[in-house]
Amino acid sequence: MGVLGIIGGSGLYDLPGLGEDWRGDEPFGPPSAAPRLGRIGGQDVAFLPRHGAGHRLPPSAINYRANIDALKRLGVTDILSISACGSLREDLAPGSFVLVDQFIDRTIDREKSFFGPGCVGHVGLADPVCSRLGDMVAASLAHLGLPWHRGGTYLAMEGPQFSTRAESRLYRQWGADVIGMTNMPEAKLAREAEICYATVAMVTDYDSWHDERETVELAQILKVMQDNARHARSLVQSVATRLGELIRPEICPAGCDRALEGALVTAV
Ligand code: ADE
Repeated sequence: MGVLGIIGGSGLYDLPGLGEDWRGDEPFGPPSAAPRLGRIGGQDVAFLPRHGAGHRLPPSAINYRANIDALKRLGVTDILSISACGSLREDLAPGSFVLVDQFIDRTIDREKSFFGPGCVGHVGLADPVCSRLGDMVAASLAHLGLPWHRGGTYLAMEGPQFSTRAESRLYRQWGADVIGMTNMPEAKLAREAEICYATVAMVTDYDSWHDERETVELAQILKVMQDNARHARSLVQSVATRLGELIRPEICPAGCDRALEGALVTAV
């Protein structure tokens, strides 16, 4: 049986029933926090709060490589990532859950690959979200009766400032649906680590393009996230139960677990 990794964003800093904190080798430096281990719905899970204890890490200071590496070392096969996002669409109101399936990476100040000089690697990323895990998350969102939307392009920005109105309008023209600061390079690194990845972006605000809404503020985001944390926990419970029912070993039909087989890798 595989292990479900859960990366919690703003407002989701812990899950009930998890015990032991894990510490192991940290070749990429320390992860945001020691992953908390346990079982949910009969499924082994490892929970990692992306911003660390007490939300002390801003998006640019998160060690994404260490986070994904720590989960990989724990045997994580699937990652459910949960994060806050702003909406770039009128119909994606605050409180909605968006099952993102594409990304535009505009981050500029982060380590984005496990490969580097000495071992060059290029993995495919045309479909960055695992369709099998995505189906499970979709079934759970539908079952829980939450306001949700399947599919959407997440624009990852560097931050920490929110966007100007002009930037926000530009991203809408590009076809982005939601905006956040943390899903990249997380999704890229999960693919390099051959881990199935799906992400749910919880809308906390209309980004700055919206003339009739207040400009976005962290306090407002945290308030919506705290209100949504209960739903996020139910989502984790439901997805874990579905994954636990999957008969393993079974290869990922989307090929996430074999991403390096088709990759261009040149070791010297
Ligand atoms: N996270 C939550 N809301 C956001 C926004 N409007 N822009 C970037 N990141 C966000």
